[in-house]
Amino acid sequence: MKNKLQTIREEFFEKLKQAQNAEHLREIELKYLSRKGELSSVMHNLKDLSLDLKKELGELANNIKKELEHSFEETKKIIGLQADNKFIDITIPGEKVKRGHLNPITIIQREMEDLFTSLGFIIADGPELESDYFNFTALNIPPLHPARDMQDTFYVDIKNQEDSFDLVMRTHTSPVQIRTMKKFGAPLKAVIPGRCFRNEATDARHEHTFYQFEGIMIAENINFANLKSLLEIVGKKLFGPQTKLRMRPKFYPFVEPGNNGEYTCFLCEGQGCRVCKNTGWLEIVGAGLIHPNVLRAGGIDPEKYSGLAFGFGLTRLAMLKYGINDVRLFNSGDLKFLEQL
Ligand code: DAH
Repeated sequence: MKNKLQTIREEFFEKLKQAQNAEHLREIELKYLSRKGELSSVMHNLKDLSLDLKKELGELANNIKKELEHSFEETKKIIGLQADNKFIDITIPGEKVKRGHLNPITIIQREMEDLFTSLGFIIADGPELESDYFNFTALNIPPLHPARDMQDTFYVDIKNQEDSFDLVMRTHTSPVQIRTMKKFGAPLKAVIPGRCFRNEATDARHEHTFYQFEGIMIAENINFANLKSLLEIVGKKLFGPQTKLRMRPKFYPFVEPGNNGEYTCFLCEGQGCRVCKNTGWLEIVGAGLIHPNVLRAGGIDPEKYSGLAFGFGLTRLAMLKYGINDVRLFNSGDLKFLEQL
């Protein structure tokens, strides 16, 4: 009976190896594994044997049965898969993978970073929760100076028993000017992109959270002509080669002289339109020559070095460039807005 079991086993595997489709499998199942199959009939005959033999052969038969059933299921799976594969219609178009895209603010920021790194500038970074000192005082805006009123500020009080810190959510990227000067000294060329915060009542044109892009260049004999040529390059990069720059005086405490850089409107090319409110010009960038007090706060000797600085709003630029008429859309999380472009 032992031999009979071994023969069944061998025959079974021989057949299984040759099996190629569901029909073959069904035959094998019927012949060997079913209730009326060969294995069952051998097991049925065990009952006439002595107790010892019953035990020994019973165990063997059971093991073989398990082995055959296991191999049978495995082969069934493989043949099943092959059968399925035959019916894959490779002409059906695949499901499109959804790809996101860069935020318009990031696009402009990267364009500017590419431009300035190609001119040898480093990209610097600083904290969004900033000390009152770096955000104002070091930038030549002393406590109680009326210039502080130009920027509605989120003040953050952190007090414990020993210390009291005056912290603010930075209102502009300018404090990083000081941090960068202190860290690298002069000569220095750096740009600073970053998120800023102001205590605004939000509407279509005002938002409490927005992005700026700042630049400084410090060396011996930096002058107003350097500033003008640099801002011209920026304008052409932003709005195209035909763009013109004009500079008009404006007060910023951290520069002297300070001015507002305006570019010819990219939409009407200076003719006057809705975007530039019929002036032909867009006010884009605050700029000037760095105030000696600011250089001093950064640890740089104003007798030896001079510098230029500029700063503009990336959020505002993105709105102008892409015709976005409500600043609140940037932070709204609205997919109808975000999926465009
Ligand atoms: N920090 C100014 C603002 O947020 C922008 C600015 C103006 C930056 C003049 C400068 C500058 O570096 O020279 O309104």
